[in-house]
Amino acid sequence: MNIDHIATVRQARRGTQPDPVEAASLAELAGANGITVHLREDRRHIQDEDVRRLRTSVRTRLNLEMAPTDEMMALAIAIRPDTVMLVPERRTELTTEGGLDVAGSAARLAEFIRPLSGAGIPVSVFIDAQARQVEAAAKVGAAICELHTGPWAHAFATPDEQAQLDILVKTGALVRSAGLQLNAGHGLDRHNTAPVAALAGLHELHIGHSIVSRSILVGLADAVREIKAVIYAAAGGDS
Ligand code: PXP
Repeated sequence: MNIDHIATVRQARRGTQPDPVEAASLAELAGANGITVHLREDRRHIQDEDVRRLRTSVRTRLNLEMAPTDEMMALAIAIRPDTVMLVPERRTELTTEGGLDVAGSAARLAEFIRPLSGAGIPVSVFIDAQARQVEAAAKVGAAICELHTGPWAHAFATPDEQAQLDILVKTGALVRSAGLQLNAGHGLDRHNTAPVAALAGLHELHIGHSIVSRSILVGLADAVREIKAVIYAAAGGDS
């Protein structure tokens, strides 16, 4: 589970609640197999201290999503997440918009990945589902490919749905035959996830926004009851 948007809500007040570290523990107790955080250059949601605390608290696996920059490299080497996931990053984007152009920056990425792999941290690259990106991922030393499922999510329940699924199936097979771990994510929710979860050889799905959004709705009634109980108990009446 990606917990960035727990921190987005916290940063709206620059306070301490909701705490992404607490959320990560709850997610793990509920069955999440790993926790992902994207430490963005502008620190709009997750903060450095969150990553440090998560390194101590996460009982499953901590995946650090980051741009391939010198600053992030130093942090990753210091914090030692279980995996690093490389994504492109633009400050003005609302979320990661496209895959990393591994084919277009192969030499630089190979150099970036080497010290991380050397430090025992497997590196994942988030890519558009294209054969040339998979081939480049294998060449630059990535251990994992995460296929961008945003186009699938957009096409879901439209006439383009099958064509987008076919692309994921075909590119997923290329990832596996290149000897890389197959992951997928972005834009997945409880309606559109099943066909992606059924991809042959899929290892992990990374899902964030839809879980956090849904948790607000399924948790809202309890939160209202809790605060009403406090108010009415203080006023000496029934809620
Ligand atoms: N994978 C990558 C590489 C991402 O950047 C994100 C969003 O941070 C996700 C998966 C999760 O996407 P979503 O929040 O839409 O579930």
